[in-house]
Amino acid sequence: MSALFIPLEVGGLRLRNRIVIAPMCQYSAEDGSMTDWHVIHLGHLALSGAALLTIEATSVRPEGRISYGDTGLWSDANEEAMARVLATVRRWSDMPIAIQLGHAGRKASTEKPWFGGKQIAPGEPNGWQTVAPSPIPFLEGENPPTELDRAGLDRIRDAFADSARRAARLDLAAVQLHGAHGYLLHQFLSPLSNRRTDEYGGSLENRMRFPLEVFDAVRAAFPADRPVTMRVSATDWVDGGWDIEQTIEFAKALQARGCAAIHVSSGGTDPRQKIPVGPNYQVPLARAVKQAVDIPVVAVGLITGFEQAEAIVGTGDADVVALARGMLYDPRWPWHAAAELGAHVTPPPQYLRSAPHQYRDLFKCGE
Ligand SMILES: Cc1cc2nc3c(=O)[nH]c(=O)nc-3n(C[C@H](O)[C@H](O)[C@H](O)COP(=O)(O)O)c2cc1C
Repeated sequence: MSALFIPLEVGGLRLRNRIVIAPMCQYSAEDGSMTDWHVIHLGHLALSGAALLTIEATSVRPEGRISYGDTGLWSDANEEAMARVLATVRRWSDMPIAIQLGHAGRKASTEKPWFGGKQIAPGEPNGWQTVAPSPIPFLEGENPPTELDRAGLDRIRDAFADSARRAARLDLAAVQLHGAHGYLLHQFLSPLSNRRTDEYGGSLENRMRFPLEVFDAVRAAFPADRPVTMRVSATDWVDGGWDIEQTIEFAKALQARGCAAIHVSSGGTDPRQKIPVGPNYQVPLARAVKQAVDIPVVAVGLITGFEQAEAIVGTGDADVVALARGMLYDPRWPWHAAAELGAHVTPPPQYLRSAPHQYRDLFKCGE
């Protein structure tokens, strides 16, 4: 039996295998509202045979978008647009759909990546004033963010809870909080981006305070029988930054508050980062977190091979693997993994006749 295809329960949600689709920004929304692109994008990924589809980083407030094309979930219009997309996707796929909720903090207000991705200054078209724990820009020479005051912190925490309530109304299966890649929650965690002198800066306990308050608010706002998880960057890859030891303390604190899983990524806070990119490069970080907590841990990052993924789960480095780029490149990756590993997937009935001759047992309906 392939370890990659053994079902798993995460906070009340049944995953039919250990392959999940990582959140991927599409920069194709309008005023935060999903468009037809999202029907195509999410629609084809929902036929992939993965256990869970995670909607891209979706901002809880307009100024929290990475770019003007990001999805959001702060308004009724955003919610209605997402409901329309979900209705179409769900008509043809029963794959559970989760959402990543986030706020980009000082890394907001940028151009779409395919137009260069540079920061857009406030006052320029599609630009706005960013906010952050401390008034330090991500890149030298960028417009600095405004330091969040008490009212600003409350506003963002409440916006996370509001978006979680909208996600619940949309019947989304899980909420993943974006605590990674140098965005707002990670900006609070890392001493490189958080220089506050109040109770939200300084000690590890203080730097964890706002992300944990956001977690508590979202956990309280989202139905108790559906999971809330956290994506973390386990290290900044910069001396003196956020690191694996602090990540483990954060993961333990999250577990104690009812977090259902930890998704382990890395980097994104500081342009000086030196990342040893290669297959499995973040797996040792996932393993370290897994050894410290009892909740499921997700590994991600250049996991592209079927045997590679099988080994990560089979040896217990992580409970689940997440794929991003590999899934865009080959949206039937889980089918191909099942074929290679002697497991089964459930295709849409329209595609039942597509199994290659040598994999005649690949399709099992109702798995
Ligand atoms: C097009 C694209 C968009 C992404 N958007 C997000 C996002 O919205 N939220 C997030 O946490 N990570 C995002 N990522 C990072 C991926 O989720 C993933 O962690 C990273 O690509 C490494 O996994 P991979 O090697 O399987 O691609 C994005 C990556 C890509 C390629």
